[in-house]
Amino acid sequence: MKKTKFLSIFTSATEQERADNFDSYWEFTQKHGGQLLEDTKDLSEKQAKLLYFKNHPIRLQKPLANPNAFYRNYITMQDDPKSLDRMTLMLTGMYKFARHEWVGIKGAWDVVPCMADSHTIKDKISRMHLAEEFCHQRLFHEMLITCGLDKVEWVPLGPIKEKIYEQFPKFPESIMSPPAFITELMGVTYYLHLNHLLDEVLTDEPEVLRRMKELLDEITIDEIAHVGQRRNFIGPVGIRISKMLVQPFYTLFFNDIPEIGQLFNVKKMIEDGINFDFNNLSSSMIERSWIPSYCKT
Ligand SMILES: [Fe+2]
Ligand SMILES: [Fe+2]
Repeated sequence: MKKTKFLSIFTSATEQERADNFDSYWEFTQKHGGQLLEDTKDLSEKQAKLLYFKNHPIRLQKPLANPNAFYRNYITMQDDPKSLDRMTLMLTGMYKFARHEWVGIKGAWDVVPCMADSHTIKDKISRMHLAEEFCHQRLFHEMLITCGLDKVEWVPLGPIKEKIYEQFPKFPESIMSPPAFITELMGVTYYLHLNHLLDEVLTDEPEVLRRMKELLDEITIDEIAHVGQRRNFIGPVGIRISKMLVQPFYTLFFNDIPEIGQLFNVKKMIEDGINFDFNNLSSSMIERSWIPSYCKT
């Protein structure tokens, strides 16, 4: 069977193509996430998957040597990051990345219309999208528990940063869409690099490695679909602006998390963002995700 070749995420699309792709994404997301559970900010399919992981726990054979190093640095880095081992850095960095995402969606959830008040496909998609992001925070929490870290708390970022995140969804779509799209792209880039790092730090823990990858895949598959979905909000001018935002956005965001510079090649991450085209993803991920029709050949 011929493997589908994909085009750059920055490929142009007509207005009609984008309208058709919103319909196609809406169909996909309902099947993929299941029913929206507004009260608990959850989705039925995702909830069932998380429950499976919780009911079939896997834990490190050899517990973390120094969990206090995690707890001391996971909210704010207190130690010199160079003094920490790669496993601890990976876990504190992961929490910090997920925490930013969690703060962003918390602010947006109260501002965007609930499903009952969503009258357009775009609004409905946005509501489902936010619920999916809340599921990611729960999956990250489960990843930390898998590594024996069961005292993790989700701490807000502080009033000023929280306020900034709350203002973001109130901006007009044309202004908000490019940064929202690049944020999703940055997520996929980070998760793909994190996937490789897991192989390195968990070589002696094959069971935990498998479970961590299962949990991360659940998140990454959603994020790949989000990248296409958020790209679909953008017209020809916005897409050129978006490409120019990759470098400054990645640099700014990753500089804020000291672990990222220690663990990853940020220059390569920026290149991966600019060149992103779905071709390096596994076929099992692509099958479970969603890609805009205009990025397929
Ligand atoms: Fe996410
Ligand atoms: Fe996302």
